[in-house]
This record gives sequence, structure tokens and C-alpha cells, in this order.
Amino acid sequence: MDPKLTQYVIDSFSTENSVQKYTNDIASGLWASEKLLVEKYFAQGSTILDLGCGPGRTSLALAEMGYKVTGVDVTPKFIDIAKSKLSTINFAVGDATKLRFADQAFDNILFSFNGWSMIPSAHGRAEAAAEIYRVLKSRGYYIFCVHKRTIIGQELTWLTQLIRLKVLKPLGYPSKEQDFGDFYFNRDTETTYPIPQFVNFMDIKEVKRLHEDLGFQVQLMAMRSELSKSDDQLKSGDVMFFVLRKP
Ligand SMILES: C[S@@+](CC[C@H](N)C(=O)[O-])C[C@H]1O[C@@H](n2cnc3c(N)ncnc32)[C@H](O)[C@@H]1O
Repeated sequence: MDPKLTQYVIDSFSTENSVQKYTNDIASGLWASEKLLVEKYFAQGSTILDLGCGPGRTSLALAEMGYKVTGVDVTPKFIDIAKSKLSTINFAVGDATKLRFADQAFDNILFSFNGWSMIPSAHGRAEAAAEIYRVLKSRGYYIFCVHKRTIIGQELTWLTQLIRLKVLKPLGYPSKEQDFGDFYFNRDTETTYPIPQFVNFMDIKEVKRLHEDLGFQVQLMAMRSELSKSDDQLKSGDVMFFVLRKP
């Protein structure tokens, strides 16, 4: 992946607002929906690669549930905090698009809180998906979630983006977006992040196809709101969970 794009992700997650937000989140533990899926699909005591672990919200909760957790994140500041707070868990700085683990190294993999869709460029996300498939054991499960792209109610947003990408950009006008669905945002509406975070609002059919083409079998696709009513109080908006299995 283009190193400039990776650096943008690191810079956007390293701002004071972002570090504070994700560090505060450690105490909140797993979302009810995450807990439900983890308990259903990840065998007790199995090894988990917690990708995009941030400062450790999910890593701590999973370790407390008895899993053997390895937390990996591309943002060094997050890994420094995780290591200082949770010294019993194995954390490392790493990029999901080129993982430094052997083939079939983990029983299960989690990429929580839309982390995979925050990798810029379709190419980068495809690289990460292939790496995840490679380091997952046969019969292992991979759980992640994404923001689903909906057109209804958002027609103007996507229409203006389409014009920027397909008409103005080829004419030489600058555009931050590279793929349809790209979105730069402030995590909390109360504060303005100095470097907006990146996410792609995903076409669910494309996400499914990409992973099936790699060999994954889809076990479950469900909105967070369908899995847990209590997660409705989370500020992050509804997301779609995927549970995939490597044959
Ligand atoms: C929305 S945050 C979630 C953090 C944590 N999992 C949580 O739920 O609080 C997404 C995380 O993905 C990480 N991330 C983004 N791109 C990554 C990549 N290519 N490799 C590893 N981590 C990445 C970011 O640094 C960030 O910590």
C-alpha cells in the first residue's frame, strides 16, 4: 500500500483527541454484540489476533475471557499505551496489509470497530483481507464490521462524490477521495479532530465477494442493531458484522 496513505492513518489516530477517545474506551470493554459473537465462534482459550487493537479495548476484554491475545496496530502511540497499561498481553506495531506472522498462526482473528474499512484504498483493503486469510488457521473464524453504504437518504452526498471522482478528478481537480464511499470525518461531533479520520462506507455485496474470492465462507452477516438492542446507545452508528470461516 502507498506509504503516504498509511502515514495518514497513523497521523489521524495519533492526535490528542483520538488518543484520549480510544484510551477512555478501554474501560468500556466489548460491545454486547462483539461479546455475543466472540463467545459463539471463538473457542474458549483459543489464540486471537486482535488486529487494529488500538490502545487495547478489545484485547483486555478478550484476555480477561481467557483467550490468548496478540494485539497488533499500525499506530505506534496506541501500542505504547497498550503496552504500558496491559503488560501481560503481547502487543506489536504492525500493518494488516503485510503481517509479520507465519501462515496459519492464529485460531481466530478480530478486526473490531470498522478498522478494516479504515484502511485507505480498495487495494490496501484487499491486501489486508488476503493477509488475514493467510495467517488464520484452517477452520478458524474471522470477525469484523463495517459501515454499510446506504443510498437512500444520502443521495446528495454520494452524487456529489460521484461527480468529484468521475468528472472533476479526471479533469485535474484535487480530490481527497480515491474510491467511491470514501469519507473523512470527526469521530465525535462535539470536537473537531485536527486530522479527520478516514473510513470507506462499504458496498456490502463487494465486501462479501472479496472475501469469498479469497476462500472464506460466510457464516453470518448481521447488523449490530439486530444482534444487540443495548448497543443502540453507542455513538458510532449502526454497523454490519461479518463472521467468516476459513475452510
Ligand atoms: C476505530 S479504531 C479501533 C480501535 C480499537 N479496536 C477499538 O475498538 O477501540 C481502528 C484501528 O485500526 C487501526 N488500523 C488502521 N489501519 C490499520 C492497518 N493497516 N493495520 C493495523 N491497524 C490498522 C488504527 O490505528 C486504529 O487503532
